[in-house]
Amino acid sequence: MTKITIAIDGYSACGKSTLAKALASKLGYAYVDSGAMYRCVTLYALRKGVIKDHSFQENEILKLLDEIHLSFKFNTSTKSSETFLNGENVEKDIRQMVVSENVSKVSAIHDVRVKMIAIQRDLGKNRGIVMDGRDIGTNVFPDAELKLFMTADTDIRTQRRFDEFSSKGQHISFNDVKLNLIQRDHEDTHRKENPLTQAKDAIVLDNTDLTREQQLEYVIKLISDLTLNVE
Ligand code: CDP
Repeated sequence: MTKITIAIDGYSACGKSTLAKALASKLGYAYVDSGAMYRCVTLYALRKGVIKDHSFQENEILKLLDEIHLSFKFNTSTKSSETFLNGENVEKDIRQMVVSENVSKVSAIHDVRVKMIAIQRDLGKNRGIVMDGRDIGTNVFPDAELKLFMTADTDIRTQRRFDEFSSKGQHISFNDVKLNLIQRDHEDTHRKENPLTQAKDAIVLDNTDLTREQQLEYVIKLISDLTLNVE
């Protein structure tokens, strides 16, 4: 069975990880959430007091990089991969709003990206992987056999993320969630280093009006059309 690399990029909260997890489970592939890595660096810097009032000195973040060790474990009961920062399960903490508010600035730092991209490439070296993020198809795995560029209407994305926060008991207003998505999309598409752009050979997937099942079915069909044996 030929294993391929599936790269999923796109705007904030447009369902990349939902699709990536479903694909990985269906195909028996590994799933890697590259955004979780940038969120870990941000969480660590917040905990160390290096980020204060949404600002930081870049060199202070760089001093922390060698102290950050990331690992991922598959949780069999939730059937999803969880992120560990220096041995601690931080899956919940990295999704906090305060991390979302600072992560795009941290992810724009050159040396942060160099470290994260090296880990990402190593995780994907044997193929059979679905990775989502902002620069996976353009930079991390430019030779990926399938590249998707995901988008959805901003209000729909906001509602999905708002529901996610609410289900975890985090009460953030719809408007604050929306502003964060808009702000991050702006920063992620305008940064110098590996900005979010659509790879030339990526297939655009706008899931505004698609259910999870419909988008999965659509992508599975794309994979079969690639005439690769993935069953
Ligand atoms: O889940 P959501 O789409 O809101 O974001 P995420 O995938 O967790 O990514 C968080 C942030 O990490 C993004 O807003 C980017 O600033 C950064 N990121 C990146 O720069 N490159 C990647 N490959 C993945 C994420």
